[in-house]
Amino acid sequence: MAGAVKVKVCKEAKEVAEQAAQMIAKAIKANPRMVLGLATGSTPEGTYAELAKMHKAKEVSFAGITTFNLDEYWGLDGDHDQSYRYFMNTRLFEKVDVRPWNTNVLNGAATNPMLECQAFETKILASGGVDLWLLGIGGNGHIAFNEPGSSVDSRTRLVSLTQSTIDANSDGRFFKKASDVPRCALSTGIGTIREARSIVLLATGEKKAQAVADAVNGAFSPDCPASLLQDHPACTFVVDEAAASLLKK
Ligand code: GLP
Repeated sequence: MAGAVKVKVCKEAKEVAEQAAQMIAKAIKANPRMVLGLATGSTPEGTYAELAKMHKAKEVSFAGITTFNLDEYWGLDGDHDQSYRYFMNTRLFEKVDVRPWNTNVLNGAATNPMLECQAFETKILASGGVDLWLLGIGGNGHIAFNEPGSSVDSRTRLVSLTQSTIDANSDGRFFKKASDVPRCALSTGIGTIREARSIVLLATGEKKAQAVADAVNGAFSPDCPASLLQDHPACTFVVDEAAASLLKK
């Protein structure tokens, strides 16, 4: 793999959402049967709202696509209002015409996590692989739930969350207190994500500035999992000015 992360800097978060939605809609129009990788967290919420708007205006149809999500909290079933399955259903899937049976989110309540993760990888392969994977980034540089230290060829597996990720996800946007956040998750690996034919990573706000700078300008290192995208042939970061503020000019 050879490449260098491309960075698009937008004025503000709203523009990031519009850009990302345009990129996804363009990819779907080019291939209405595409395989789309999706992310959760507050960053992509604007993108999903834009896509829902575009769908309502009959500008894009999701009827032929297949989706795979990055991760899911271990121990939460899909009906739990903090599960990523619930997030995806309410933010996007129920607002567009994607076929529910073509949406894949790891089952956080599976009895055997290893089998669940292996089946997910097999399904990605059987679908022909992910054409475009939308990502967010954690304040510590994590992608999906691949925390610092995750290896470049890691696969979908049960992982432990770091305290900083638990704290970030219990600041009131999602969970109310840290003790409510599951300690583990099922997460696609960095190797799994790197196999996507293209990657679009979104970051907004100054809390992400250091992680974005480390990912783009820092060493290719598991210390910042997102830096392990540096040699991907088609990876674009779409960021707002605040998240871009520590990037080398
Ligand atoms: C969570 C998710 C990641 C996401 C990150 C950032 O930990 N597992 O996929 O990118 O948080 O989330 P936010 O966009 O809410 O800052």
